[in-house]
Amino acid sequence: MMTAGVLTLSDKGSQGLREDVSGAVIKEILTRHGIATGQYAVIPDDETTIADTLRQWCDNSSLSLIVTTGGTGLSPRDVTPEATLAVIEKRVPGMEEVMRAESLKKTPHAMISRAVVGVRGSTLIINLPGSPRAARECLMAVLPALGHALEKLGGDTRDCAQ
Ligand code: MTE
Repeated sequence: MMTAGVLTLSDKGSQGLREDVSGAVIKEILTRHGIATGQYAVIPDDETTIADTLRQWCDNSSLSLIVTTGGTGLSPRDVTPEATLAVIEKRVPGMEEVMRAESLKKTPHAMISRAVVGVRGSTLIINLPGSPRAARECLMAVLPALGHALEKLGGDTRDCAQ
């Protein structure tokens, strides 16, 4: 079974002032799709703390996937994309594009999310927006290609064409 880390970025959540509904939604969707949650944390919107956590989880845990939620917008404390860009080695623009394209069908506010998707080592990192609804909608948008992406990242060298 593949294992994921779920990282919630929220100043209020990290102080216990807000329940992490989005993290719970993400864990539930991943479990339904055969991906267990191996790491979970709620940390403040601090770029260094986020980047350090991402590096540690990628380099010291056997996680296939890390899903972050929150901090992708334009508020002064929204720095998740910057922290993600600082740690990834490859960007996966198609997954970013499909999240925004699908989200724009639901709300014009989707254009505000700067969510990044990329790879560090053999771990795929996916940024999702912070609201439970937005997190669900964006995760559902990438799910059709997620299994294949994780297989390839894990070293599957079989030809994709059957
Ligand atoms: N994407 C989807 N699918 N559904 C939404 O409701 N909300 C948007 C956007 N993306 C939304 C969405 C809003 S209102 C914001 S401000 C941005 O995501 C950034 O959210 P974040 O700062 O919580 O990450």
